Amino acid sequence: MFLNEYNMKKILITGGAGFIGSHVVRLFVNKYPNYMIYNLDVLTYAGNLENLKDVELSKNYKFLKGDITDEVFINNLFTEYQFDGVIHLAAESHVDRSIKDPLAFAKTNILGTMILLNAFKNLWNNNWEGKRFYHVSTDEVYGSLGETGLFTETTSYDPNSPYSASKASSDHFVRSYGETYKMPYVITNCSNNYGSHQFPEKLIPLFINNILNDKSLPVYGDGNYTRDWLFVEDHAVAIDLVFHEGKNHETYNVGGFNEWKNIDLVKVLCKLMDEKLDKPKNSSEKLITYVKDRPGHDLRYAIDANKINKELGWKPSVTFEEGLSKTIDWYLNNEDWLKNVTSGDYQNYYNKMYLEN
Ligand code: NAD
Ligand code: DAU
Repeated sequence: MFLNEYNMKKILITGGAGFIGSHVVRLFVNKYPNYMIYNLDVLTYAGNLENLKDVELSKNYKFLKGDITDEVFINNLFTEYQFDGVIHLAAESHVDRSIKDPLAFAKTNILGTMILLNAFKNLWNNNWEGKRFYHVSTDEVYGSLGETGLFTETTSYDPNSPYSASKASSDHFVRSYGETYKMPYVITNCSNNYGSHQFPEKLIPLFINNILNDKSLPVYGDGNYTRDWLFVEDHAVAIDLVFHEGKNHETYNVGGFNEWKNIDLVKVLCKLMDEKLDKPKNSSEKLITYVKDRPGHDLRYAIDANKINKELGWKPSVTFEEGLSKTIDWYLNNEDWLKNVTSGDYQNYYNKMYLEN
């Protein structure tokens, strides 16, 4: 049978122009030529279509510009395209921004998720065979760990920032649609991602960019905060696996088995940058500056990813040393991407690509 937009399996990926979303879109477009992949993104400051240059002309890919909080638009979109599956990544994702503007986080992360859930429910009206809503969430919903222990899928929610509270709330709404309307859903709660195409306001790309520009490296508080780091391409593989093989109404924790204190991670990053840039030993480390702490800063996150490992056979494919080295190489080889992002030029890409031709 000739496959076209109308008889392929139709998957809506929200937030596909962002950091993780762009990796998920790329993986699905390349791996599933018989699916039609729709990328819905409103293109906030974090959405960058340049992230998807390599797949944007693929026959099984279509970009849809729009806002998940616009209920009329979303309902019409679901009626028009009849999506079989939704992989929902669109969100406001930066903790520091949530401290400055919590309402924006409630709107996008809670209301936006509810509008998508409702549109999906109304579209299929209990005919759930072959349908699935996949909600991509975060380990931050579990709050903060002390020096020991791991987050499991049964750890109680205890969010501390407006960002994590909004994600926790959206997770609860997803579960409630599963219980109340029998909507088939899966949720993953993942740890800190790193890799290519990440907006340079998050720790690793910010510090790479600052080292390149000889700017200080602002470490919050005493730097003894701990995060579990996962290479973004391994997260995309986990999402593919859970979307296809995860059990309905289940949650899976995804993590790198890879805990680092911020200050130790920053020192490794500095060392690698010195080596790759051929700079004298310790020159990047001299840029470290301890600054005022993030309010409500969670001390430690650490994921127990044994469920996804045992049930679905997923594990990270790269070590942190390999992943970090690959990541740095990508930013060093894509300085234009970094320059476009820091200058704001990337925001013209949509007009050039989609409106001026
Ligand atoms: P990101 O900020 O890089 O990308 C978010 C994307 O969503 C952007 O392309 C943005 O334009 C889009 N978006 C925002 N508001 C929208 C709206 N109203 N309508 C349509 N699109 C909108 O985020 P990310 O780091 O790629 O995270 C993606 C998802 O994964 C988020 O749900 C986040 O909570 C979750 N997550 C992130 C991490 C991480 O380490 N980055 C870890 C675990 C979970
Ligand atoms: O744990 C998953 C979460 O990881 C995701 O849900 C979020 O979307 C994602 O942004 C990330 O949140 P963090 O707050 O952990 O990421 P961030 O890169 O902002 O910070 C990582 C750690 O580094 C954190 O302890 C704060 C610290 N930090 C961060 C920045 C930007 C600094 O010390 N200095 C900085 O300039």
